[in-house]
Amino acid sequence: MNIAKYKNFDKPPESFWVASTEHTKYRPLDTDIETDILIIGGGLAGLSCAFQLLNQGFQIAVLEGNRILNGTTGHTTAKVTSQHGLIYSKIQGQMGHELAQQYADANQWAIQEIKRLSEEYSIDCDFVNEPAFNYTQQNKNLKKINDEVEVASSLGIKASFVNAIPFNLTIKGAVRFEDQGRFHPIKFGQALAKYASEHGVQIFEKSRVVHIEENSGYVVTTAQGKRVTAKKVIIATNYPFYNKHGAYFARIYSERAYALAIKAIEKFPGGMYINVDNPARSLRNQDTKDGELILVVGEHHKTGQGRSTVRHYEALADFADSLFTVEDIPYRWSTQDCMTLDGVPYVGNYTSNTPNLYIATGFQKWGMTNSIVSSAILKDLIVTGKSPWQDIYNPSRKTLAASAKNFIVENINVAEQLIDGKLSQLPGRGDFKPGEAKILRVKGNRIGVFRDRQGDFHIVNTTCTHMGCELNWNSAESTWDCPCHGSRFTYDGQVLSGPAAEPLKANNDVNTIEKLFTEDF
Ligand code: FES
Repeated sequence: MNIAKYKNFDKPPESFWVASTEHTKYRPLDTDIETDILIIGGGLAGLSCAFQLLNQGFQIAVLEGNRILNGTTGHTTAKVTSQHGLIYSKIQGQMGHELAQQYADANQWAIQEIKRLSEEYSIDCDFVNEPAFNYTQQNKNLKKINDEVEVASSLGIKASFVNAIPFNLTIKGAVRFEDQGRFHPIKFGQALAKYASEHGVQIFEKSRVVHIEENSGYVVTTAQGKRVTAKKVIIATNYPFYNKHGAYFARIYSERAYALAIKAIEKFPGGMYINVDNPARSLRNQDTKDGELILVVGEHHKTGQGRSTVRHYEALADFADSLFTVEDIPYRWSTQDCMTLDGVPYVGNYTSNTPNLYIATGFQKWGMTNSIVSSAILKDLIVTGKSPWQDIYNPSRKTLAASAKNFIVENINVAEQLIDGKLSQLPGRGDFKPGEAKILRVKGNRIGVFRDRQGDFHIVNTTCTHMGCELNWNSAESTWDCPCHGSRFTYDGQVLSGPAAEPLKANNDVNTIEKLFTEDF
């Protein structure tokens, strides 16, 4: 489909969740402070932790590098489900029934907790009870669907087999879960943040953490040089940027996925749908004051490794076109998820030797319930020292070793990313279209040059400030993305998401650019 015909495609991508909520205005940290618990990361996981830890006698502070809830939480599909792909047969097969039961109990509880909080605190977050479907169009995946129905049912989930879904898709079968849900994640998260803030939690935005120092507790420094001294620290950033412990960079990789919010002539039939086949496709709807939106989600690739990322939006538009009469595509966005060795998040102590340092990461693509689960586990570990779900989520679980070999084979290409890709010959100014970027080798330096829509040029050094991998251009989002551990930078080098904490070296001054185009750089 020619997506350029839709009027919003000449604007930068923006998620419906972000576009339909007011920006928060928590102030940046402008003085040194002390606290009992510091939470780094103001997404749903971090803010839920702050909320769950209220009334436990702790001073709590939250540091967010940008605006709260505008990272992964603000770019999700926002399905509130315990149906996370075919996770139950996988966990039972690899780790046994008991740990599969923990995962089921935790995520079923999280659905109910979101419902409870919405009702008890009158949170207007568009929560709707819906069934969720995981379908296949391929015979080879049918047995997996049947196995999932059996295992999920044995764990107490209301799961059943169905052989049709209400779309123009021929399927071989699907597993249906009852009593799942969908909501508006930013409306929900902002309400938790507001309540927490009104009850003593200090929330700071635009306060990116760049350094952690350990002595008897932790001293955390922001990019502005302000320091927080804390007895306990929870790292709830999407990707754990702190490399001193745990070697998370070797057991997580980042994936990007894409979403369109379309308007269609047909009414959406209800329910939430995702396939188990490739390419990934997912569907849900959302009521808005301007009518119904249908979210068409899918396509995925490792961060920094997509080629011509715009084509992912085009592929989703083609899929939407095959199911609906598309009238408009008012929103499009992409998101980033952390994937773990065995497909289960890492939530608990950062390592078994760091009793006051905690982590919540690796939610795969299932961050809504897993954020809430994380907040319960971390609250229990901090308050009582144990959680009923700590074993399955334990970041140091023994069962990880069995998954490590496949993960290393799968991710061998991370090492390849240290080698430069194809570099352009030195071009002239006129070789850049507005909105286009090229990677150049100039006098031994690998540099990225981007021409914005106003015609101005922006130059960055394309070596990632995390561990030195070479960045690639993401044409769909106009960002520099790292293929190794998923850091992302704006076109002029500012950190959008870690683990990198420092901006790229940039040089936009007119003289440098003039020199570049006269080959005198
Ligand atoms: Fe680790 Fe770039 S994110 S090297």
